[in-house]
Amino acid sequence: MTNFSKLDARHLDLFREIVGAANVLTDEEALHHYAHDETEDLHYLPEVVLKPNTTEQVSSIMQLCQQESLPVTPRGGGTGLSGGALPQWGGVVLSMERFNKIIAIDERNLQVTVEPGVITEVLQNAVREKGLFYPPDPSSRGSCLIGGNIAENSGGPKAVKYGVVKDYVLNLEVVLPSGAVIWTGANVLKNSTGYNLTQLVVGSEGTLGIVTKIVLRLIPSPKYDLLMLVPFRSAENACAAVSAIFRAGYTPSALEFMERDALEWVTRYVDSSTVKIEEGIQAHLLIEVDGNYTEVLMQEMEGIAAVVAEFDCGDILFAEDHQQKEELWKLRRRVAEAVKANSVYKEEDTVVPRAELPALLKGVKDIGKKYGFHSVCYGHAGDGNLHVNIIRGELSEEQWNGTLKTGIREIFELVKRLGGTISGEHGIGLVQKSYMDVIFDDQHLQIMKQIKQVFDPSNILNRGKIFD
Ligand code: LAC
Ligand code: ZN
Repeated sequence: MTNFSKLDARHLDLFREIVGAANVLTDEEALHHYAHDETEDLHYLPEVVLKPNTTEQVSSIMQLCQQESLPVTPRGGGTGLSGGALPQWGGVVLSMERFNKIIAIDERNLQVTVEPGVITEVLQNAVREKGLFYPPDPSSRGSCLIGGNIAENSGGPKAVKYGVVKDYVLNLEVVLPSGAVIWTGANVLKNSTGYNLTQLVVGSEGTLGIVTKIVLRLIPSPKYDLLMLVPFRSAENACAAVSAIFRAGYTPSALEFMERDALEWVTRYVDSSTVKIEEGIQAHLLIEVDGNYTEVLMQEMEGIAAVVAEFDCGDILFAEDHQQKEELWKLRRRVAEAVKANSVYKEEDTVVPRAELPALLKGVKDIGKKYGFHSVCYGHAGDGNLHVNIIRGELSEEQWNGTLKTGIREIFELVKRLGGTISGEHGIGLVQKSYMDVIFDDQHLQIMKQIKQVFDPSNILNRGKIFD
């Protein structure tokens, strides 16, 4: 492993020549801003923040950094939850926020070409104006950037029906650590032309290259949706209802789980009166269906209501209008923020085959009892994706940074036994990498490390993310 060089005045001058002085930030305030993302309470100061806005600039920056052995950490909106954008080695943060153009919406082919710094929701709204739909919608969609979504292979509530980011990416322009620029694929819906570098870059957490242009496929926008919130007296029953809904022949466009604490905390946090959580209720499912025919959607809602009734649910809240739907979605989307505001926490992004969800939830609670921690669980139940938030609460330093690691390892071993894995949509980054051995044997990890080596022989790009 090469050692990194220290950044000096000469480097700063060269950076200014490439991106212009205004886009080379070294002031305290900026460095602190780029020192954290949304991951726990982690903080690493960069030495400089660069804000390029052309592929050529990114290429020149990478050439220089490789020549001079300077560490580079690419960054999107800074909303990540696994520490992918944290400049652990100092050096350069390469902020992609000025790559903010939607280059072309191709209505003939149902595609969009976009720069990585476009906010996901801005992109969704722009294509919706043309009657088109880009479904992947992380909770942070109002502030995350599409490039960051590509880096983490993000999901969100719609994934259960429409898939995650990887299912929409057709082609990527990527600047490699050497400064070379490649297109990874073609603007086509099928492609059997050699190794699939597009899908290798998706979810590579900014360790293989810098994405500078993105071609996504789109689908026609569904015209209508219906939403309901179902309370359950047992959280395990709520989880069990999830797979029953699919087995009964329904594919909701969202099927979200919230433990009682999750909904209670967010209700307080956003000061909402939309939901009254009855006594004895332990969890809720938020269920949406969408499509082009309201009568069909009504029938689906009735069918789903009949399924959940078999799992001892309480009175179902059917959203009456657009505003109530928005309110319910606001509650769901802001759970993460509410948990963060409530306590220091660690978030584990577990995912299992959906019918194993009740076993996962029960296992998490049992492990919590054994190690003395409280957890707040919520997530994309339709995908078997459960965000386990472990609350610091009264845990001592020794418990929090010591024995808890063994508890988390036990959760991940359970996940593995159930046929799942340790991240469904947040990525490995810094915070999960010490658990990769639970999922992969040495040989598997070696292949991943060799791939990294091929792309980035000097190991300057986001070193230490995913694995050491
Ligand atoms: C969510 C984010 C935390 O599901 O993934 O809200
Ligand atoms: Zn999520």
